[in-house]
Amino acid sequence: MKVYLVYFSPSGSTKKTVRNVAKGIDATEVIEIDMLKKSNREKTHSFGPNDLVILGMMTATKLYGIPAEVMGALKGNNTPLVGAVNCGNGYFGSSLIAMQKFMSKQGFKMMAAGGFIGQYSFSKSIATNRPDEQDAAIQFQFGKDIAKKLQQGDLNLYSKLSIDWPNEGTFSTIKCAIGSALPGPGFSIPKSWNELAIADDCIQCGKCVKHCPVGALSLNGKITQDRDKCIGCQGCVNVCPREAINPINESLQKMVANVMKFRQGRKEPKLFL
Ligand SMILES: Cc1cc2nc3c(=O)[nH]c(=O)nc-3n(C[C@H](O)[C@H](O)[C@H](O)COP(=O)(O)O)c2cc1C
Repeated sequence: MKVYLVYFSPSGSTKKTVRNVAKGIDATEVIEIDMLKKSNREKTHSFGPNDLVILGMMTATKLYGIPAEVMGALKGNNTPLVGAVNCGNGYFGSSLIAMQKFMSKQGFKMMAAGGFIGQYSFSKSIATNRPDEQDAAIQFQFGKDIAKKLQQGDLNLYSKLSIDWPNEGTFSTIKCAIGSALPGPGFSIPKSWNELAIADDCIQCGKCVKHCPVGALSLNGKITQDRDKCIGCQGCVNVCPREAINPINESLQKMVANVMKFRQGRKEPKLFL
């Protein structure tokens, strides 16, 4: 069986997650499709009933970024799907439900899913370095369980996907309720929150420009941000080797400071099989 790892992972934790799950599956071949690359989102990727697609995306109540573009590029033919959503020590909301709904229209059958923990895009001190070794062991075993189900030809998802309501105060609960009710698979921060500051010690290595999924950064003597294009995914912030890129919007900073109060300690993944 060919296993396809398809991921939209601006800060890298979701990519690690899907790779760990794949290790538990006895695949003849593992093929990666990085959906940060526009060229990959512009093609149609077709899969058959004997392939397995592991789709990894990040969450902000619902799927974050450009989920319709990412998932719209995938075409299944009764293809088994494993849904993996990474959240930053908070909650994955209705992301898996949104993924299941969208991907079923694309010809996929979600037969396993997980809400996993990845280092919080806005702070290295929350869910630091996750997925870590403990997560990797859980994800490996999850892969083994998936392989067993596939060997039995069992594509049923027995556990009901749950919304995973946040335990982060009224604001987050309302956000999650609105997010779940809104049509479409995605959720975004307001455009006014996406402003970045580029520090003077930027060495203009261009890593952020290459990494940005939507071409919102350019290097022309200095790094400049196109705020109309920027989706606020924090990929550039986390890929920068000098920590020279930082979000500066005050409302965003207040929101981050508030949710961080609830994000201490270790949270564990939730698996659906
Ligand atoms: C704009 C934005 C909003 C986010 N909202 C949430 C959230 O509602 N709940 C949560 O647990 N994590 C939230 N996160 C954190 C990411 O989902 C999490 O850090 C994830 O592991 C990032 O995946 P990546 O490393 O593959 O980019 C948010 C991140 C960003 C950039």
